[in-house]
Amino acid sequence: MSDSPTHRVSTSDDIEVGTYLEIAEAEQNLDDAAHQLTTDHRPQTTDRDAIAVIDFGSQYSQLIARRVREHHVYCELIPHDAPEERVRALKPRGFILSGGPASVYAPDAPLVPRYVLDSGKPILGICYGMQLLAYQLGGEVEPGTKREYGPALVHVSDPPAAIFRGLPPEFSVWMSHGDIVRRMPPGFCSAATSDNSPAAAMWNGDGVIGLQFHPEVVHTSFGSQLVGNFLRDICGCTGNWTTASFVDSAVEDIRRQVGTGRVICALSGGVDSAVVAALAHRAVGDQLTCIFVDNGLLRRGEPQRVVDTFERHLGMRLIHVDAVDSFLGALAGVTDPEEKRKIVGAEFIRIFAQEARKLGRIDFLAQGTLYPDVIESTSHDTASAASRIKTHHNVGLPENLPFRLIEPLRYLFKDEVREVGAALGLPEEIVWRHPFPGPGLSIRVLGEVTSERLETLRAADAIVMDEVRAAGHYRQLWQSFAVLTPVRTVGVMGDYRTYGNVVAIRMVSSQDAMTADWARVPYELLAKLSSRIVNEVPDVNRVVYDITSKPPGTIEWE
Ligand code: XMP
Repeated sequence: MSDSPTHRVSTSDDIEVGTYLEIAEAEQNLDDAAHQLTTDHRPQTTDRDAIAVIDFGSQYSQLIARRVREHHVYCELIPHDAPEERVRALKPRGFILSGGPASVYAPDAPLVPRYVLDSGKPILGICYGMQLLAYQLGGEVEPGTKREYGPALVHVSDPPAAIFRGLPPEFSVWMSHGDIVRRMPPGFCSAATSDNSPAAAMWNGDGVIGLQFHPEVVHTSFGSQLVGNFLRDICGCTGNWTTASFVDSAVEDIRRQVGTGRVICALSGGVDSAVVAALAHRAVGDQLTCIFVDNGLLRRGEPQRVVDTFERHLGMRLIHVDAVDSFLGALAGVTDPEEKRKIVGAEFIRIFAQEARKLGRIDFLAQGTLYPDVIESTSHDTASAASRIKTHHNVGLPENLPFRLIEPLRYLFKDEVREVGAALGLPEEIVWRHPFPGPGLSIRVLGEVTSERLETLRAADAIVMDEVRAAGHYRQLWQSFAVLTPVRTVGVMGDYRTYGNVVAIRMVSSQDAMTADWARVPYELLAKLSSRIVNEVPDVNRVVYDITSKPPGTIEWE
């Protein structure tokens, strides 16, 4: 395997433009001056309520942010050691302290910044966050006799603390901690107990609350109500961060940022770039030009759909580049997966830059970077993701194309992007489209990529798409697709023996592509897929179903 600078992308489906630009950057060693091209895209026009989630490295930190946003309250995940000005700029109505792997007495344990404790604003400490509150406000924390991991029952004290209002006196929660609060800080009392913790929750009778358990995970019943109570009743948030308000402020921000400048956007067919283009178009109309590079590696019907949607229905200026021959030419004879990625990336950059240059002066590049791509995680689990993120921040553009970036989705999660897409009137099949890798079908035709083999794969893949949709499984699955293997097997059709290709079907469920499980779809669906593919796709005489989870497998076969 080559040691190419490419790498697999795990979060959003069509940040491949960013990925390709990274490749270009790595190859050209762009200097710091180029890096300064990026600007901060924090929305400026909104007066929505906000919450700062201070991240101590819990694996659940992103979940906390999502739970808050489900209540239509904007929040950002901020590393515990971020500069104070950054938090002030957010103007938070309250703070949530995440859990984390450390122990409060460890020599380098991260602490709650003083300005948070002194802010006089509501604070909700979760797990390690609660232990920090206890420790830093004058209580005592000690190692529990046993690590408590899994479901537990909590009993709410009477009268209930504000955060427990409207909840039953007893309910099940998800615990995951070693240390426990032995003595609460002065002014605090227990708000709930569990068999292992006399203070499964504590509060100061006002706005500072600690929960030993995790309200953000689905295994905690009433977790969403707990978060809602904190946001609404304790912080006074009104839930004014809605899809409509996001669209209005994003449009206004883009308009202000762009002024009379010109913008380009690379469309991939995926939801992220589609939503970015639709927002930018609403903001600046014909100052936006979209470039769609048809690399010949897309699914059946995709190029036409992109053109129909964006040019015909949405009336955007669209440059449709038919680059099929040059991509297939560059891929000829190549079998190594990473080499394929590298070639597709380099080819994309070359063609995109060439088209952009033809347009004359362009000031901005609109790009579909999402929040999970840019979160500066403090968790060890995602440290490698964080290093990748750096390269995203530092997108350097090839061949001196001096664009500045517009990234209106930079603070959104994928499900929020889909909501925005729906609100902007994008068609269902774009809004709900499964992730699709930048290198496209080149990494699903195993071995050499030829137009014949691509056609065979497309025919099989179209059947998978049709049947998965018809059976009502499309939205539940993370991805579903066909792979054309280089294996040939013997079969029998009518009176003849055949010697044909093997197609593999991959269907997985996943939350974020970091882990995935093969989907337990009904046998009837598998039977239908197998029979249709073998009967309808020339040269395919066998279909297999991939029952490998990730890890140890990856979602893609190459
Ligand atoms: P793997 O195969 O690593 O894939 O489990 C995880 C997710 O990333 C997608 N993927 C890619 N996306 N460029 C991309 O833009 C790539 O080179 C690439 N490789 C994999 C894959 O489809 C899955 O959603």
